[in-house]
Amino acid sequence: MIDNSFVLRGGIAYSENINGIVTYYRGYLVCVDGICKGAFVNLPDKYKGLKLYDYGERLIIPGMTDLHVHAPQYTFRGIGMDAELLEWLSTYTFPEEAKYSDMDYAIKSYNYFSEDLRRCFTTRAVVFATMHNEATIELMNQLEKTGVITYVGKVNMDRNGGEGLQEASAAESINATKEWLAAIEGKYVNTNPILTPRFIPSCSNELMKGLGQLSKDRGLRIQSHLSENPSEVAWVKELVPESTSYANAYEIFDTMGTIQQPTIMAHCVYSGDEEISILKKHGAYVAHCADSNMNLTSGIAPIRKFLEAGINVGLGTDVAAGSSMNMLKTMFITLQASKMYYRLVDSNVKPLTFEEVFYLATAGGGSYFGKVGSFKDGYDFDAVVIDDSKMHSMRDMSIRERIERMVYNDADAIIKDKFVKGKKVYTRME
Ligand code: GUN
Ligand code: FE
Repeated sequence: MIDNSFVLRGGIAYSENINGIVTYYRGYLVCVDGICKGAFVNLPDKYKGLKLYDYGERLIIPGMTDLHVHAPQYTFRGIGMDAELLEWLSTYTFPEEAKYSDMDYAIKSYNYFSEDLRRCFTTRAVVFATMHNEATIELMNQLEKTGVITYVGKVNMDRNGGEGLQEASAAESINATKEWLAAIEGKYVNTNPILTPRFIPSCSNELMKGLGQLSKDRGLRIQSHLSENPSEVAWVKELVPESTSYANAYEIFDTMGTIQQPTIMAHCVYSGDEEISILKKHGAYVAHCADSNMNLTSGIAPIRKFLEAGINVGLGTDVAAGSSMNMLKTMFITLQASKMYYRLVDSNVKPLTFEEVFYLATAGGGSYFGKVGSFKDGYDFDAVVIDDSKMHSMRDMSIRERIERMVYNDADAIIKDKFVKGKKVYTRME
């Protein structure tokens, strides 16, 4: 028998759609060849020959997708959080990222990031590196070994980067990107390249157009930032005066992607009706980064409006503007932020429900990677086994209640095992 075919038993919870969480108390979860065959109350006869791992009272949920995270910022998370976006970038972030021209620094720092990524709830991630090719390749090498499936972008930036963090011209940035792509071609199974114009203030028109063309020529996806902060939005209007919105500026440069090749836009806090229709038209993904949006006083993204418009939405930790890579924390802040949006901003926009946020963290963001983030038949078997026995309770708790409690109180949710496509990538040593 192949070793990525097995059965797990435990308290199972997953989303079949955005409105509900399906649960099984002491249910069976079947993995054949890395693919989930579904969850069951009673194990079907045809799977009885598979090896069974009984996790008893532990919880089993789908792995989570972090749709937006900056690897080089990981080691300074939680510092400098009194600034807003543009000051935070120039004071803390750009000087830190400039250090990744030093490979000793990059190797050490990316090891901290990769090892912690392996140990957290995330089984899929879409990652920003820095503008440096060598360090970006080092990051990809390290991530490949974690077993977590990722997209990783060498960052493009040819203006406004300050001392030591700016490529000399659009042509040099495009050339460096092509060299990076050539250096990694065919090298990885789990690690994919993604084009990464940092945001419009960092990229000249010529560079943006060049990346739009490269995306088309090579069939490569794009990730960037959109409408995060009022000063940033105003700056983009100055930089691209012919644009009717920030999203339209990306559209002008052919970087908004297509339904087959969707672009991820992080934040979208200030996306009004025009941006909503542009995001929808291009099949883009919104990476909602509530922790980051609170820390940098950015605002609250109107996620329910995006969902009602049929836009793809997932969650991002956005480390280091977000202060933790723990997706439970991001879910928790997503819930709180949407409640405050309803109370303080617009009482016509109902808060997100727990079911909806659980879906966004798992199947919502997971869909960027294909059939990922659910335990429905045919999905990739990405799963996290959790021990919540340290969260003492005086009452009998349903699986649904235990999952909710775990999100609102992440400190005592201990990951026991983590699987990606049926392969165990992490196990906790007692
Ligand atoms: N906009 C451009 N670069 C960044 C970044 O590194 N983090 C965040 N949060 N927003 C950005
Ligand atoms: Fe970001």
